[in-house]
Amino acid sequence: MGEELVRSDNEPGRPLVVLDGVDKHFGSLHVLKDINLTVHAGEVVVVIGPSGSGKSTLCRVINRLETIDSGSITLDGQELPKEGRDLARLRADVGMVFQSFNLFAHKTILENITLGPTRVRKVDAKRARQEAMALLERVGVAAQAEKYPAQLSGGQQQRVAIARALAMNPKVMLFDEPTSALDPEMINEVLDVMTGLARDGMTMVVVTHEMGFARRAANRVVFMADGEIVEENAPEHFFTNPQSHRAQDFLSKILTN
Ligand SMILES: Nc1ncnc2c1ncn2[C@@H]1O[C@H](COP(=O)(O)OP(=O)(O)OP(=O)(O)O)[C@@H](O)[C@H]1O
Ligand SMILES: [Mg+2]
Repeated sequence: MGEELVRSDNEPGRPLVVLDGVDKHFGSLHVLKDINLTVHAGEVVVVIGPSGSGKSTLCRVINRLETIDSGSITLDGQELPKEGRDLARLRADVGMVFQSFNLFAHKTILENITLGPTRVRKVDAKRARQEAMALLERVGVAAQAEKYPAQLSGGQQQRVAIARALAMNPKVMLFDEPTSALDPEMINEVLDVMTGLARDGMTMVVVTHEMGFARRAANRVVFMADGEIVEENAPEHFFTNPQSHRAQDFLSKILTN
């Protein structure tokens, strides 16, 4: 993959996403507890932890799909906007890929990709199409450009979803269990695209149970339990020498099966 996937203003190493003392409740449930996390430009942070530990909520507050109760979140030095145009601009800077692909069923693959750039980024239609085709080429589904989502396999649809997020030229990409709805034989084709992105210097926050990907692509693993960041470390340290009981317990369960 080439240069243009990574924004030229993404100077490596600069703090891009900063969560400072973030708390979030759902009613009486305290789902994010004093979260402090800095993701630097070009960094790949893998978030793991048991079900219900707050991983998806963490992704969602970064995109302001959920509000926070206290603390602050900044994207590239700016506080997350509350609403309106500024919020739309923020969302365009944060690419998000979910477990379910959420493609527009009644639009072709190509139209799915060009919609955001033409509507939100005001890119002209011809250029949007050229860039979309280049992205589809990258993720290996250019031959499917004129088809509709239902005509593609799950792995192909998820690669389209990644291309769609990239088409907005985001500063950071958030992935929330992007492979957990896929049949096993399709997981690697999606992880390979993600590994390529990581290698190209994309800033990424990835919630995943794919420990091979974490070892291969992550700069840092963040382990969450009960709404807290319990432990964070480079993958080679985290996987071979987890410090906390919670992480040891979690790893013993997922690595044996
Ligand atoms: N909109 C909501 N309203 C109420 N409770 C919620 C809401 N969204 C999440 N929760 C609760 O917040 C907690 C954290 O949920 P979250 O989805 O962030 O966990 P997770 O780590 O992503 O889990 P999983 O691995 O199962 O995806 C859970 O107890 C969940 O039931
Ligand atoms: Mg989740």
